[in-house]
Amino acid sequence: MMVKSVWPLFALVVLIAVSKKTEASSTTRIESFTVRSDIRFRFATTEISSRIRNLDNKTQEVSFGVTMPDRAFMVSFFMVNNDIRYNGQVRKRQIALGGNQAVQTPQQAPRNANIFAISVNVTAGNAATFTLTYQEKLRRSRGFYEYEIYINPGQVVPDFFIDVQIRERSRLRFVRAPELRTDDLVTNCLAGSDAEGLNELVVIKRRRQTTASIQFRPNETQQRVAGDGISGRFVVQYDMEHVGLREQFIVYDSYFAHYIVFDFVPQTLPKDIIFVLDKSGSMRGRKIEQVREAMHVILSDLKPQDRFNIIAFNNTPENWESGLVQASNLDIIRSKAFIMNITLGGATNINNALLAALSDLSGEKDRLGISMIFFLTDGDATRGERDPDTIIQNFVNANRENVAIYCLAFGENADLDLLTTLCARNGGFTTEIFEESDAAEQVACLYDVISDVNAESVRITYDNSVDHFAMTKTRFPLVFKGTEIAVFGRLKDGAQNVKYAITGSERSGSFNISREVGDIDIVRLSEDEANNPLIQEPQARPLIVERMWAFQTITENLVEKDKYTPGSNTTEALLEDVFVKSLTYNFVTPLTSMVVDTRGQGLAEFRKANMEDEIFDYTAFNFTAPPTPTTVMTTTQTTSDPNGSGTVGVHLHTCIIISIITLLLL
Ligand SMILES: *[C@@H]1O[C@H](CO)[C@@H](O)[C@H](O)[C@H]1NC(C)=O
Ligand SMILES: *[C@@H]1O[C@H](CO)[C@@H](O)[C@H](O)[C@H]1NC(C)=O
Ligand SMILES: *[C@@H]1O[C@H](CO)[C@@H](O)[C@H](O)[C@H]1NC(C)=O
Ligand SMILES: *[C@@H]1O[C@H](CO)[C@@H](O)[C@H](O)[C@H]1NC(C)=O
Ligand SMILES: *[C@@H]1O[C@H](CO)[C@@H](O)[C@H](O)[C@H]1NC(C)=O
Ligand SMILES: *[C@@H]1O[C@H](CO)[C@@H](O)[C@H](O)[C@H]1NC(C)=O
Ligand SMILES: *[C@@H]1O[C@H](CO)[C@@H](O)[C@H](O)[C@H]1NC(C)=O
Ligand SMILES: *[C@@H]1O[C@H](CO)[C@@H](O)[C@H](O)[C@H]1NC(C)=O
Repeated sequence: MMVKSVWPLFALVVLIAVSKKTEASSTTRIESFTVRSDIRFRFATTEISSRIRNLDNKTQEVSFGVTMPDRAFMVSFFMVNNDIRYNGQVRKRQIALGGNQAVQTPQQAPRNANIFAISVNVTAGNAATFTLTYQEKLRRSRGFYEYEIYINPGQVVPDFFIDVQIRERSRLRFVRAPELRTDDLVTNCLAGSDAEGLNELVVIKRRRQTTASIQFRPNETQQRVAGDGISGRFVVQYDMEHVGLREQFIVYDSYFAHYIVFDFVPQTLPKDIIFVLDKSGSMRGRKIEQVREAMHVILSDLKPQDRFNIIAFNNTPENWESGLVQASNLDIIRSKAFIMNITLGGATNINNALLAALSDLSGEKDRLGISMIFFLTDGDATRGERDPDTIIQNFVNANRENVAIYCLAFGENADLDLLTTLCARNGGFTTEIFEESDAAEQVACLYDVISDVNAESVRITYDNSVDHFAMTKTRFPLVFKGTEIAVFGRLKDGAQNVKYAITGSERSGSFNISREVGDIDIVRLSEDEANNPLIQEPQARPLIVERMWAFQTITENLVEKDKYTPGSNTTEALLEDVFVKSLTYNFVTPLTSMVVDTRGQGLAEFRKANMEDEIFDYTAFNFTAPPTPTTVMTTTQTTSDPNGSGTVGVHLHTCIIISIITLLLL
């Protein structure tokens, strides 16, 4: 789900103890804003660079900030000020450094994004340049890959340039750059490749069938059309011809990337779905109206092959029907009347509502199809069983048929920890629904993501030519329509051929596809293809397939850890692996920071802040990380913002002020 930027990219960071912020903006000029992106084999490297000049006749602070998708990891940062280059280094993240100053963050980061910001003193008339690089794996959804860059310089920039280079090994079916996504709130996650207009200032060149160059260079007049300069998300969408078995096996230097697309499956699987909706008193007003609006869309979208039921719950669950109902037109109309008629009030009994949903589904798995629960709540458990661990355990114990549950945490008072663990342990995931005017669309969007399933219980079993201890996940309970499966791993020394079987079920029954890829099918990258020109950090291994493997392993471990008790051996082992890979590959993850040593003038530290510190005991490590520079600093930190924005700010005593604003993952 993609949402708009509400935070000006280059806006000044307002922190207590930072003075003269407001007047500074009129006397700094962004001379250049350049984005270079390298997308190869669905892995995107984005380098954002900017030169900012102090027009004032005295020294003042200049700020640089980048908003990036929260599934991306920063890889490198450097700045040049007064002809001195300051390089960032990825270090072990420091926790609780003490200090007692309150830190305020001015605005929220956009949904599902992180902001990294740095301020530096620049002498009169001089300019500082900042360069930040991050990486992310593109996901395929609704039949195409989508890449987004947040831009908002807050002023017209003389040298504004975005240059995206795509390089694949299969023929690109299409490449397009839709209009900038500019509205602050409206979720356009439903926008498909035909739903949006095109960005007419973008020039797309296709030198070869497998490559594309996408360039956007609005001049000052064109930037002025948007008022104070361009603001929004720049989007590139593309897809490839998925021919044959719709698989690609890419190898370089013993690491492999295995991509599988299930588009060949002609029909989606029928589903049994229970909508469990909160009708406690706190849902009154706009929230229930938005849920009604969303349910209207969702119910209309059910297919005749589907069966469903609705449970509205407060102190007790209220079932619409006593069991599953086939989604006929008439029943859909009846169910909509039930939704309109829901009366609000009472407390939140999550435990009983969830068990009621499971009991509706139990014993019904007699046909080839999938079972899922769509669970929406805006609060924590206040009635019946209230202990989150017990609620989760009760559900796990009762969920003998492996029903996937998708949680929607509506607003800031929902118990995000409970929902995250509950859904992660039961084959689903949790999405935050932000209490904004587009909440109905957000809910409908989540349904759109999970509603069409091409295959279930998909598993890829490799022979012994791969290193089984260095694999990303190979089991995919549900494969949603228009997506792509990716497995990354390492081949054993000397392995020439790889044998594997893809098993699972689709509409016409179960399948077992045995494959052997050898020299003909394996795409062996040339050195030129494998070396990423935007990764220059000597300490970061630049080779693309290996970095993809490390990136995916880190991402999966961070999700996987939610299934286990914090502090358990499994969690620690997963996090240790994240930590080691973050340092080895220079990724700023929840366990690492980007530290800029300004050689006596101060320290800047960027960190991704979407993980609670206490989950992880750093002292348990015996990994020898390079010591963090020890210039004196004071730090202020609010790890759990009661207002839910999960804000961490750091004030460094000497010269540089950093703030990071983070929203929780998906
Ligand atoms: C600096 O600029 C301010 C106004 O921007 C002006 O009042 C002041 O005289 C200038 N000082 C010098 C030394 O030019
Ligand atoms: C910007 O480009 C437009 C269209 O090519 C042109 O009409 C306009 O004069 C240009 N403005 C500047 C400042 O170059
Ligand atoms: C609406 O709710 C009332 C009271 O809960 C109930 O008597 C009535 O049958 C409901 N109507 C529909 C259409 O569900
Ligand atoms: C799939 O087929 C292979 C080879 O025929 C066989 O070894 C394997 O057990 C089968 N897997 C399943 C799940 O049927
Ligand atoms: C976790 O590790 C400790 C120390 O190695 C061991 O004593 C303990 O039994 C382990 N616990 C589990 C649940 O594996
Ligand atoms: C870490 O190393 C120290 C000294 O080498 C050792 O005493 C300690 O047991 C180690 N801790 C763990 C968790 O391995
Ligand atoms: C939370 O919000 C309330 C009301 O908007 C405000 O008074 C309070 O200071 C906020 N707390 C924090 C930590 O931001
Ligand atoms: C800039 O310099 C002023 C005055 O020396 C100092 O108070 C401030 O903290 C500095 N700002 C940064 C970002 O280093």
